[in-house]
Amino acid sequence: MKIYLALISAAALALSACGGQQEAAAPAASAETPAENAPAEQAAPASAGSAAAPTEAGACETVVSSDDQMKFDRQELEIKKSCKEFKIVLKHTGKMPAAAMGHNIVISKSEDTSGVVSDGAGATAANDFVKPGDTRVIAHSKLIGGGEETTFTVDPGKFAEGSQYEFYCTFPGHYGLMHGTVKLI
Ligand code: CO
Repeated sequence: MKIYLALISAAALALSACGGQQEAAAPAASAETPAENAPAEQAAPASAGSAAAPTEAGACETVVSSDDQMKFDRQELEIKKSCKEFKIVLKHTGKMPAAAMGHNIVISKSEDTSGVVSDGAGATAANDFVKPGDTRVIAHSKLIGGGEETTFTVDPGKFAEGSQYEFYCTFPGHYGLMHGTVKLI
């Protein structure tokens, strides 16, 4: 019985896979027709977007892991300059709650870090330990605890040439072990 069900679902998967390919091909072909009639200004961004999406979708995001040992899994965070939006997923693989071992990711210029960290400590967990409206902060995630994950986006256009940038956790006392360099690639 189980084998029979497995065969059925395998067949269903095969069918849906075939169907998916046909569906994917059809809109692409039909999308070209209205584009020819549309004004050039309107047609250009649409076709550029659909052409870039398949290759850039995977590259415009990264996953950073953190744990109960107060560590990120890396000391360098690479952000792709060519991305319109860069997505960062923060995972907390530990078991401790956010109140005891909370982690976030905050990104700022290195010269702004100490100010952001000290103001963040006074901003409380309700504000994810980030001072509300802090213009030195380029982007930041929410504060999470063990077993949780959160996603935030960074605008790569906010990084200036020639400046140094850092990422770090602003939970009080965590900066020392939880910081690294932001590298624009
Ligand atoms: Co932390």
